[in-house]
This record gives sequence, C-alpha cells and structure tokens, in this order.
Amino acid sequence: MTKTLITNGTIVTAADTYKGDVLVDGEKIAMIGKGLKAAGAKRIDATGKYVIPGGIDVHTHMELPFGGTFASDDFHTGTVAAAFGGTTSIVDFAVQGMGEPLEKARDAWLRKARGKAVVDYGLHMIVRDVSDKVLKEMDVMVKDGVSSFKLFMAYPGVFMVDDASIFKALSRTAENGGLICMHAENGGVIDVLVKRALAAKNTAPKWHALTRPPEAEAEATYRAFRLAEMAGEIPLYIVHLSSSQALEQVRLFRDRGLPAYAETCPQYLFLSIDNYDEPGFDGAKYVMSPPLRERWHQEELWKGLARNDLQVVSTDHCPFCMTEGFQGLPKQKQLGIGDFSKIPNGAPGVETRMVLLYDGGVVQKRITLNRWVEVTSTTPAKIMGMFPKKGTIAVGSDADIVIWDPRSTSTISAKTHHMRVDYNPYEGRKVKGKASVVLSRGEVIVQKDKFVGTKGRGRFIKRGSPILQT
Ligand code: URP
Ligand code: ZN
Ligand code: ZN
Repeated sequence: MTKTLITNGTIVTAADTYKGDVLVDGEKIAMIGKGLKAAGAKRIDATGKYVIPGGIDVHTHMELPFGGTFASDDFHTGTVAAAFGGTTSIVDFAVQGMGEPLEKARDAWLRKARGKAVVDYGLHMIVRDVSDKVLKEMDVMVKDGVSSFKLFMAYPGVFMVDDASIFKALSRTAENGGLICMHAENGGVIDVLVKRALAAKNTAPKWHALTRPPEAEAEATYRAFRLAEMAGEIPLYIVHLSSSQALEQVRLFRDRGLPAYAETCPQYLFLSIDNYDEPGFDGAKYVMSPPLRERWHQEELWKGLARNDLQVVSTDHCPFCMTEGFQGLPKQKQLGIGDFSKIPNGAPGVETRMVLLYDGGVVQKRITLNRWVEVTSTTPAKIMGMFPKKGTIAVGSDADIVIWDPRSTSTISAKTHHMRVDYNPYEGRKVKGKASVVLSRGEVIVQKDKFVGTKGRGRFIKRGSPILQT
C-alpha cells in the first residue's frame, strides 16, 4: 500500500490548529505527530500551508432534470471541478419519478455516478409522493445508506408536497433514523405572484426574485419547524437558506432548544438582487430558488454562521449554460427569454465554495479558520452521517486531505474554471487561498494545477444517521 508523509504543515480541524506531520497509509490517516519518519513514503512538503480535511458539499445537482433540460455538469465534470476547489465528497440528489419506487431513482443516480465520479459521493432522495408504500421504502433507503430525504414546499405540480405528507415523512425519520431536508418556500403564494407578474408582462429575470419574497421563505421555514415539532420534536434541516427572515425562524426554534438546522450557500453570502440588473438577459445567470436577496441580508447570514444558527455552507451546485451549444449542450437559461418562470433554476458553485468562504470569511475575519473547516467539512459530515470517516484529520479517518495555500491569489473566471458551464457568477472576483494538493482516500488527485486522478475512482458513501449537536 502507498504511504504518503505530509510534513511541516499547519493542521487545521474544526477544533484545533497545530504544526505537525500526517502519515497516510493506503486510504487512511495512520499517524499524526511531529518529526514523523516513514521509510519509502512519498513526501509532500506542506511548509507554510494548511492541512485541512477535504471539503464536503452536501448539496449538488449533477445532471438534474429541470424545466426541460439537465444541469450541465455530470458526475465526471462536476467532481473534477469539486476536486480542483478542494472538495473531496459530495452528496447529490436523486429524484423520485412520480409514482415510482425510491429504489428506481437511487439506482438511476448510482448509474449516473458510477464510472464517472472522481471523488466520493453520497445520495439524498427527493421524495415527490409520500404514499404508505414510499414511507416503507424510506426505511430501506436509510438501511442502504441513502439516509436523507429532500421535500419541497415549492414548485406545485412538480415537486411540492402537502403538509400532511411532510408530517408523515418527518414522523417516519424518527423511526428509521433518517433526516428530512426541506426546500422551504411557500409554493402556492409564489405561483400566484408569478402568474400576476406574467399577466402584467413583467417577464425579465429580475421578476424571478420579485415573485419569491423572503416572507415566502420565512413562512415555509416556520411551518416546517412547527410540523417537525408537532411530529415529536423531530430534527429538520433547511436547505439553501437565503434570507434574514428565514434565519430568524431557525433562531427562534433553536433558542427554544429544538433540533433545528440549516445550511446557506455562497451565493447568498456574496451576491445580491442587484445582480439581476445586469445587462440584457444576464440576470438569468442568477435565477435560482430561493433567489438572491437585498445586500443587507448577507451580513445577517454571516452572523448566523459565526453564531452557529447556520451550521453548514453547501453550494446547491446546479449549472445551466447561458449560450446554446456550449460544449454541445442544448439551450438552457435561454429557455426563459420572454418568460422568467421558464429559466432553469440553478447556478454553478461546487468549485468555488472553499475559496470564497476562505477569502470572504477567514481573510475578512468574519469566521475563524476552524469555523471555516467546521462549516465546509466537519459539520456537513456529522449532519449527513459520514463522520468521522469523512470531515476531519484524525487517525483512522479517510485520507481526504487538502493542502491549502493561504498566500496564493487568483481571479475567478469561467475561462479558467473546470465546471462545464459558460459563466461564473463570481467572474472577476479576486480571491486569496487555493487547494494546491488534493488527496482523496490517500491518492493525490490534484497537484500543480492538474487533475491526476482517474475517471470513475469515486465511491458511493453509505451514510448513517445524523450526528446532531445544538
Ligand atoms: O434553484 C435551485 N435551487 N435549483 C436546484 C433545485 C433546488 O431547489 O435545490
Ligand atoms: Zn431546493
Ligand atoms: Zn438544490
């Protein structure tokens, strides 16, 4: 088995920062110490660099079918991009076909990933109809390592489920050890607002945001937590939280000692509703749900992260191209020219999460170095049932390790990124920090700005029940 000795780095975990060496034996971390020796081991000099657990992005959509097209990254292009950005595990969303068994969706997504993914991957299951049969299938999913389920309170007629279904699914997770992940927006109200806007000939991308107000997110967030409370104080995880009003609801329930959890995403920390005013149809780049908010929300979300009302930063990576024919892809964002409601929802981000959070969080002193590791790796691993195999630098953990260069500077651009999409929402942004060497289960997969792993080397992560802390 290959041994690798990472020497003289500053090891950073969610809890500690210290100088030391890390010995990797095969796929695992074998030893941590000072002045370690290992005859015949490959050496990586990490002097002046941080040695951190690989990033874990628990919210991606590779090849998601949406609005008549598919997200443009597949498990190969998307995970190569993840690796370049210092992310060594993802959790993607399989989608239940209406009236179809969950197993079918799980197997379809495993087929999409197998032979393609270059980092390890888990799956959540999007549940679209919560019948008694499906509730039983959820138990099987949990046993097989697909231990979390996304429900939608938005997109009536497509993904949305009613309160009774949510209540039943929540109760089921109390028995089977799974976790409900909630897309919290009031879909009924949004639909009315969308219809009104289109009737008034308001068709530009900005109307996507104007018809999805923060109150619609706050109301659904509150309702979801109340349903979880009524079901027996069941843990609930809100995905892609975007607004101060929704965060207020999370805080309300957490302050009452209830198991309320939420993630936000870089787009809500760095971009704003002003981006929809970019010329021509460029606002479509930022059409995602929930939408970007007024700038003042950003500082509230940063505070939420620093104070642990928000526990995770994921990406909701769901890219669609602006131009038809990019790398042979069909028309995507342009499907919504003349009708904002037909713009496929989503934006790219799997490659830029770690650096944006490092640069905008740690360098700007909004969060500490340890908190950066915690929200991008350790807590996602815990909440999504992968810890301590993933999410830390510890003896016995998978050797998913990033050698992070804090001094490197770069400019984010679609010209240099690795995601299969023709724009970058952060185009031109100068950032500090970079994943200079990336190991996945002991194998170097990125070094010297090159991907050196092999297509399909990524493995399915059989996840367990969430480890939840307040
Ligand atoms: O706009 C988004 N977020 N697209 C992906 C689907 C979802 O709701 O996460
Ligand atoms: Zn969602
Ligand atoms: Zn999503």
